[in-house]
Order: sequence, then C-alpha cells, then structure tokens
Amino acid sequence: MKDTIPVGIDALAFSGPAAYVDLADLATARGVDPAKFTKGLGQHRMAIASPCEDTVTMAVEAGARAIEAFGIDPAEIGTLIVGTETGVDHSKPVAVYVHDLLGLNERCRTFETKHACYGAMAGLTSSMDWIASGRARGRKALVIASDIANYGLGTPGEPTQGAGAVAMVVSEQPRLLEIQPASIGDYTRQVMDFWRPLYSKYALADGQYSIQCYLDALASAREDAVGARPDLLGGLQACLYHVPFVKMAFKAHQRELEMELGQAISKDEAEPWQRLQDSYARRCAPWLTLNAEIGNIYTGSLFLSLIDLLRKAGGQLAGERISLFSYGSGCGATYCLATIAAQAGEWQGRIDPAAELEARRRLSIEEYENMVRAGEQADRQQNLAPADFGLSGGLYYTGTRDDRRHYERI
Ligand SMILES: CC(C)(COP(=O)(O)OP(=O)(O)OC[C@H]1O[C@@H](n2cnc3c(N)ncnc32)[C@H](O)[C@@H]1OP(=O)(O)O)[C@@H](O)C(=O)NCCC(=O)NCCS
Repeated sequence: MKDTIPVGIDALAFSGPAAYVDLADLATARGVDPAKFTKGLGQHRMAIASPCEDTVTMAVEAGARAIEAFGIDPAEIGTLIVGTETGVDHSKPVAVYVHDLLGLNERCRTFETKHACYGAMAGLTSSMDWIASGRARGRKALVIASDIANYGLGTPGEPTQGAGAVAMVVSEQPRLLEIQPASIGDYTRQVMDFWRPLYSKYALADGQYSIQCYLDALASAREDAVGARPDLLGGLQACLYHVPFVKMAFKAHQRELEMELGQAISKDEAEPWQRLQDSYARRCAPWLTLNAEIGNIYTGSLFLSLIDLLRKAGGQLAGERISLFSYGSGCGATYCLATIAAQAGEWQGRIDPAAELEARRRLSIEEYENMVRAGEQADRQQNLAPADFGLSGGLYYTGTRDDRRHYERI
C-alpha cells in the first residue's frame, strides 16, 4: 500500500457535561441485574447533559481547549466542521454558532455533517481531502464531534446514553496521529437500524439489528481499506472502534479476527477464543476507559477512545500503527490505518480529561429523570438559569427568546 503525505490529527480535546449517572444506580432503579450494564454492556457511568448544556456549548468548550492546549492561532483555521446527529436547529448549523463563539476568522468554510455517529469521521476525511487538494494553503481544519445520546427513560438503549464533544485540529504537520489516505476504506447501505424522526427528541433503534449492521459494515469497510489481509492485526498496536457501548468493541474485534482466521470464534474452542481474549486485552481494552466512564457520545465515541490511547501511551506507542473504524447507523462507515506521531508523548498530559471527569456530580435517578423531563422543554424555555442545574464557570444555553437561542458565559 502506498503511503502519501502525512495529514492527520494535530490537536485533540474533550468536553462534556458536569453530571453523570452511575449505571449500578440505574440498574437498581430499573430492576435489572447491574452486571448486565457493567459486564454485559461494559458501561459504568453515563454523562448527562442538563438543559443548559447542548451540542453547541460542548463543541465550543472542546474546540477552545484544543486550540489553547496546542498553541494554535485561531486565525489559522480555514475549515470548521461539526459532526452531530443532535443539532439545535433544522436549518442553522451548530458549526456557525461555534464559529462565532470561538471567534474564528470570517474567511473560513463552515458546515455541519449529519450521518448518525459517522458525521465526525466524514468531517475528518473531508478536511484531509481539503488539505491534500492544496485548497487549505497551509491553514488547518477544526473538526468537532458533539452529541447528546438520548434513547428515553426505560428503553433498552437507556444504559447506552451519554454526552460530550471531541475537538480535533487537522493539519499537514500532525503532532498526534498521521492518517494514511491510501488506507481509507468506505461503506454505505440503506438500513433502518437506528434513526430519529423529525417529531422525536429520542432516537429509535432496532438494537440487535444495529449490532449486525455495524459488524457487516466493519467487514466491508475493512476489505475496502486493506483487502482480504489475514495478517493485519499482527502489525497493529491498537484497534479503535466506534463505541456505542464498550462490549461493542469486543464484538468488532472478534469479527476482525474471524476474518483473518477464516472461521467463526466461539467460547467452545479454547485456542481461537484465548487468542481473541489476548488480542482484545492488548489492542482494545486499555483504550476504552473513557468510553466506559462517559457513555455513548455518538460522533465522538471513536475519538474518545483515541484520546484514551494517547493520554495513556502516546509516547510509548510513538511510530506504531493503529486502526480506526467509524460506524454511523443508517448506515455509513470508514476503516483506516494511522501512525502515532513521533512527538505524541509530549502532549499526553494536555489531552487528559481526568480532572474534568473527577469534578462531575453524581445524579440520583430522581434528579436524572427530572433533568431528562426538563430537557424535553428546553428549546421552548425563554429563561434557563444554569445555577438551577448546579452549573457555574462555563458557556451555557440560557433559553430561546424571540425565536433565537441565547448562549452566555457564566
Ligand atoms: C445494545 C442493546 C441492543 C442491548 O440491549 P438488550 O437487548 O436489552 O441487551 P442484551 O439482552 O443483548 O444484553 C446485553 C449483553 O449483556 C449480557 N447480559 C445480560 N444480562 C447479564 C447479566 N446479568 N450479567 C452479565 N451479562 C449480562 C447479554 O448476554 C449481552 O451480552 P452479549 O451481547 O455478549 O450476548 C441496547 O442497549 C440498544 O438498543 N442500544 C442502542 C443501539 C446501539 O447501541 N447499537 C449498537 C450498534 S450502533
């Protein structure tokens, strides 16, 4: 495979809500064995957005952090893309609010991408194309994944909720991750596995079918990327996947190993099963801590796993190859190979969101349910007070007045 110029991720940052629900609490309230959520799905906590925290506020906070932490001049940003499936307007893109609130240059191409959880990967590869075409003229792209995953109280999807934003600066001198354009494989098929009708605040999902659609998309996108290679995993130090819930990464890794071995793997066959356990323990499990603590953040889930890898092992794995797989229901997918940049280790501390996560507030189930109900009305509220939701020190949505959304830094 021919490697081309090293375009890739130059800066990364996460921002998410100030509160979370512990999944053991949720399981107890729903009369479910907690092990179903913690072991069966692999989730421990899920971030819960208050009515004052939306896709715009999280995207702005993540974008500002990425720019500041990596010393990037906002005037260098020539493309801004926000990938989201939970925007705040049918017409006006989240990206244009973000452009304003970050104070970016007016000479900037700005838009929103929507394809369920795939929107940010679509933005990332589009911005790489923008750079490779020469149109960027040395400028950088800011790509932000920002979402609030809402399935509704008491639904099967409820334990796989979450919220958060990941911002990435894309450049031709990436300090974190070089992505090989020639290794990018794509896949599209019209399926009804997950969708959100215009009349609904909550996503609808055919959950078990969506898992099959995801795995089929992984197999096809990987074949498009690298062909029928039986030896790819051996050369990879990490395999990162879209993570709607942590157990999905295990299922995905199993599918990849099955493709390489040319056989189904089951617990009944000790040797291939052990091989799968070992490969997963080395290439996937260490990089899923943030996903287990934050939950599903839709477009940003894959990149949350990338942050986890870089904060823990950016230096140790410098120069090593990894794979990334993005899936969006409906469905669209991309599989690609990348190399961890030589200087990635220097940035480990700057991208680590541990302090923010440590400061989060644990909600009781009653508080969580009240928050969800308040969220249903938030778009129509004229005045929202962040303090009513225990918030201070940030950018917040404070209500819709005269049909216009208002954002204030408190
Ligand atoms: C993912 C989803 C379908 C699972 O919901 P569900 O049907 O209620 O859950 P399941 O009965 O399949 O149980 C989930 C897992 O927990 C396991 N489990 C169940 N009870 C358990 C217990 N007491 N202890 C340990 N594990 C348990 C199940 O065996 C299953 O594991 P497996 O998939 O390895 O077999 C649901 O959360 C959903 O719809 N999510 C939204 C859509 C989504 O995320 N799709 C992913 C692709 S994009």
